[in-house]
Amino acid sequence: MTETILVIGATGYLGRHLVSELHARGYRITALARNRERALGPGPFGSPALAGLVDEWVIGDVTNPAITDGICDDVDRVVSSLGVTRQKSDPWDIDFTANLAVLRDAERSAVRSFGYVSVLHSETGTSLTMRAKTAFAETASRSRIPTQIFKPSGYFSDLTDLLTMARAGMSLHLGTGETRLNPIHGADLAHFIVDRVPDAPGQWDVGGPDILTFRQVEELAFAAVGKKPHSVGVPAPVLRSAEWIADRMSPRVGNLTRFFSEGLVTDAVGLPTGTHRIADYFREQAAPASADSASDHHGPPSAPRASGADPVG
Ligand SMILES: NC(=O)c1ccc[n+]([C@@H]2O[C@H](COP(=O)([O-])OP(=O)(O)OC[C@H]3O[C@@H](n4cnc5c(N)ncnc54)[C@H](OP(=O)(O)O)[C@@H]3O)[C@@H](O)[C@H]2O)c1
Repeated sequence: MTETILVIGATGYLGRHLVSELHARGYRITALARNRERALGPGPFGSPALAGLVDEWVIGDVTNPAITDGICDDVDRVVSSLGVTRQKSDPWDIDFTANLAVLRDAERSAVRSFGYVSVLHSETGTSLTMRAKTAFAETASRSRIPTQIFKPSGYFSDLTDLLTMARAGMSLHLGTGETRLNPIHGADLAHFIVDRVPDAPGQWDVGGPDILTFRQVEELAFAAVGKKPHSVGVPAPVLRSAEWIADRMSPRVGNLTRFFSEGLVTDAVGLPTGTHRIADYFREQAAPASADSASDHHGPPSAPRASGADPVG
């Protein structure tokens, strides 16, 4: 029998790749979106349009209990790539509370599994974003529902900022630039996750095929835009001062500063998987025709609850 899988965070960079991969494997998909029209079109950083891939839409804000109550009715499994990084929402409200609301509904409706996408080494981070993700992963792992926790290295999408800096002629790294990571493409991560959806519970640290230092990733960005690498390291004491100041500016600025600064000085290498190479991605994104796809898509969407099959597909 065809299983129905609820994807929350379906309209984000990873969520769109997840929906595409699940659809290709024959799952029936229910997707949460704040704005259906935007969801149907192409996503950020080359991620797929959802037109024709979703069987049922739930339209609304995940912080609204009227949306999450009953969201798992008639659902066999849940996968969540719901989270906030640069958006204005409080990470605790989304990464913890909203994911928990869906988990509770999943427990009520006794779904077969709940997959959650966190971040590699979230447990050592002091930012609210990392603490919210760790708290939710910990809570989910104690659920009576089998849970699968995926902890990826940096996404190609996030590293696209390096191209912008390379175009401007100078990029910044923290410390020595020797922090190691294995960046992963959304399609490769989606493939890895969907491979494991029917399997046993577990936790996976995962990354892309190339293990690189941050400085090497910077060099690939400069090569993609045809410029000589010029990168400057921000010394650790400057970083600590920046965190101190950011904490006093606003909780949001403090959170973002800690999230990125800690992320950039902590090795983030997971099990290498996938076939997409960051050098190729940078070259594609640097080509003039793909410049638009690198823009951030997050606006202020909201829509009343409505669900139904996607008319396009
Ligand atoms: N980027 C990285 O390098 C990286 C690395 C490791 C792990 N991660 C984690 O992986 C997950 C997915 O990342 P991503 O880059 O795909 O994120 P993304 O593009 O920012 O997508 C986030 C998703 O959450 C949805 N969302 C946020 N607030 C919502 C709300 N109030 N109601 C309904 N939906 C809401 C967004 O909907 P809208 O489209 O309506 O905004 C979007 O679908 C996140 O938890 C992220 O922290 C990211």
